[in-house]
Amino acid sequence: MNALSQAIAKRRTFAIISHPDAGKTTLTEKLLLFGGAIQLAGAVRARGEQRRARSDWMTIERDRGISVTASVMSFEHDGLSFNLLDTPGHEDFSEDTYRTLTAVDSAVMVLDAAKGIETQTRKLFEVCRLRDVPIITFINKVDREGRETFDLLDEVEKTLALDVSPVTWPIGMGRDLKGVYDLVADQVVLFEQSRGDHIPEAIDLALDDARLDQLVGAAAAAKLREEVALVRGACPAFDLEAYRNGHLTPVFFGSALRNFGVRELLRGIGRLAPPPRPQPAEPRVVDPREDKVSGFVFKVQANMDPNHRDRIAFFRLCSGRFRRGMKVKHVRSGKTMAIFNPVFFLARDRELAEEAFPGDILGIPNHGALRIGDALTEGEDLRFTGIPSFAPEVLRRVRLDDPMKAKQLRKALEDLAEEGVSQLFKPLNGSTWIVGVVGQLQFDVLATRIEGEYNLRAGFEDAPFETARWITADDKLLIDKFVAANGPAMAEDRDGALVFLARNAWTLSRAQQDFPQLRFSSTREQH
Ligand code: G4P
Repeated sequence: MNALSQAIAKRRTFAIISHPDAGKTTLTEKLLLFGGAIQLAGAVRARGEQRRARSDWMTIERDRGISVTASVMSFEHDGLSFNLLDTPGHEDFSEDTYRTLTAVDSAVMVLDAAKGIETQTRKLFEVCRLRDVPIITFINKVDREGRETFDLLDEVEKTLALDVSPVTWPIGMGRDLKGVYDLVADQVVLFEQSRGDHIPEAIDLALDDARLDQLVGAAAAAKLREEVALVRGACPAFDLEAYRNGHLTPVFFGSALRNFGVRELLRGIGRLAPPPRPQPAEPRVVDPREDKVSGFVFKVQANMDPNHRDRIAFFRLCSGRFRRGMKVKHVRSGKTMAIFNPVFFLARDRELAEEAFPGDILGIPNHGALRIGDALTEGEDLRFTGIPSFAPEVLRRVRLDDPMKAKQLRKALEDLAEEGVSQLFKPLNGSTWIVGVVGQLQFDVLATRIEGEYNLRAGFEDAPFETARWITADDKLLIDKFVAANGPAMAEDRDGALVFLARNAWTLSRAQQDFPQLRFSSTREQH
């Protein structure tokens, strides 16, 4: 194996998907702890506090106690390089979350043992499924009374149409929790009432070993043996191929809060999760082992300092060995760029990246040249596919409080649209812009940032539109006819693509009936 292949084999780039409160933040923190990236529990939150203190526009996160922006945490453990991409889990979230999932090779789905699959878990799962992203399930909070274990597995299997294959199995739950049994390694990990950073050791123990009875009690041992026999009969054996193709999920049980079952999960990610996968692109799929560097921007974030208009582009390297200072082609503009200051995001801070390999996420500081979906290559005109814009679910008309500042406001809205915070539509009849977002909360984010960073006040008024669709057709005349028939409802997005703003679901379906040859798309690929 050459150096590039070795580096690829070592990388695990993944995200955690969950419904709010299932324990994603706690699990992230514990993965970093078990991965040796942080020493003390509480560091993720502490880091969050610091970040908030430095950044005005994040006041909103503080006020609401939620995390609006996603970030990346990289750490080395057990000879592997892990890149953990954070996906905000609030119910009202931006397209950021979806796009982050385009940059990972696998995901960990965290479920609350008392709640099972919740709405947000399901939405995020669907996004993973679109790309066949392999999923490891972590059933969290087994230190509390939860639902029946078999019931939970059944729910995952039925609602997500996914085979389940438990890797660990809880010995009791809630007050009776005694430990977890690792069905693959034949090891028992006993539960200790710890909340700090103590990590309980695993003990090699066959299921029929009499010591098990002494360790967890005869009744718990008997129940475990019975359940394991049932599981082995009812669930398919773990099949790496099926998991990596997104058809089967290995299941781990634990309690992130109590440091329990997390090490087994981390090992599981290391052992099972795929290294960087080939990336779909036009005109060809990109293999990570190719010599030439290529990758794409999946997220853009304004720099932490609101007084500067610097941005950080989050760039997923898809192939080749990247070296600091190297020149790459910015495919959208055709220009050559030298990347002098790429950074890695570590658990606690950033570090200048001297070299990077496929699967790595680089932060590239820039002044707005890099947009979401942009490809950087060593010359080839590649376009990475599957990085979508989503039809907004809430549309508002921008109110210009001070007409003298219209130009600045437009700039602010365009900047923020470029970051993927919102979408901007310009009605063809010249009336004021319409801003669209996927979740209501994004309007608060927008207003706060426009005020904090641009010193402008913008209002958003109700617009008579409920949804939007991108319109395309093979026949240009048909499009002209549609535009003529729907004048005030026609707009362009920031790339000049034609958009139909629909008053409601009825007008949309009516338009679709009247123009059956037109394509009404609820997502649009970048560019
Ligand atoms: P999120 O990022 O998915 O929204 O969840 P987060 O980790 O913030 O956890 C949500 C709540 O669930 C927190 O309680 C957290 O302590 C608790 N929690 C997480 N994992 C476990 C677990 O394994 N067992 C138990 N019993 N609780 C768990 P909170 O009261 O909202 O916050 P805090 O006061 O503990 O910070």
